[in-house]
Amino acid sequence: MTIATKFGFTQTWGTDSRPEHIREVVDDSLRNLNTDTIDLLYQHMPDPNVPIEDVVGTMKEFVDAGKVKYLGLSNADEDTIRRAHAVHPISALQNQYSIFALDTESLFPVLEELGIGFVAYSPIARGFLSGGVKSIDHYAPDDFRRQLAWWKPENFDANAAIVAELAKFAESKGATLSQLALAWLLAKKDYIIPIPGSRNLDRVAENVAAADLTLTAVDLARIAEVAPEGGIGGSQG
Ligand SMILES: NC(=O)c1ccc[n+]([C@@H]2O[C@H](COP(=O)([O-])OP(=O)(O)OC[C@H]3O[C@@H](n4cnc5c(N)ncnc54)[C@H](OP(=O)(O)O)[C@@H]3O)[C@@H](O)[C@H]2O)c1
Repeated sequence: MTIATKFGFTQTWGTDSRPEHIREVVDDSLRNLNTDTIDLLYQHMPDPNVPIEDVVGTMKEFVDAGKVKYLGLSNADEDTIRRAHAVHPISALQNQYSIFALDTESLFPVLEELGIGFVAYSPIARGFLSGGVKSIDHYAPDDFRRQLAWWKPENFDANAAIVAELAKFAESKGATLSQLALAWLLAKKDYIIPIPGSRNLDRVAENVAAADLTLTAVDLARIAEVAPEGGIGGSQG
């Protein structure tokens, strides 16, 4: 078993990476997870009020104490990655990346230069690339998708059209659309690990089986032809 966990938010989703907060959260995680060691500890989100050097310096205390094995960042840009890595080697970056969210590709050169692995979050574009999503009027008034550009009325139909094309392509490969979205990530770089989310065991099994689908350079080119700029509305959904 490999345990990864994060710190960096308050209970109300404010950022907090002050050293005392990091120490409290990591000690709580060790206790709550009933473990002596966390394999991978991430900062969840950069904190504009705390220099990354102080953040990683505090994370390093746990490595030195044998309580954390590897350090990671999430939602970080190149400058943050470089400054963090200068304090202690960073092993993983977790940012959003999918057929619909391409911005993060600009970070691949620095990841390759520094030998950092990449964990792709929201790899199914928060469900959009499953083909199962509906226009925003079908969701509750407080549903988080109302904030996302892919669901905005001016973008939704164009995104649904891209998804319909991708679904046809997936079918021609004997795969589901979600599997195509995950296989695309696995084919992009050998250091990418997608982390799809699902509350349904059958869909988890379906997603795991995406590892058996190998996409060729021609397949990747076809997907790029259908979604050259990712999802309509930008890389953050
Ligand atoms: N580091 C960060 O700041 C950050 C931010 C966002 C997310 N994440 C992490 O990224 C992971 C996944 O991201 P996510 O949940 O935002 O997006 P996602 O994995 O792109 O999409 C999840 C959505 O897709 C649906 N889905 C998954 N597999 C499916 C399948 N085979 N067929 C049909 N629908 C399917 C799920 O519905 P059901 O549940 O109904 O199957 C859910 O609505 C999570 O571990 C999350 O914690 C990290």
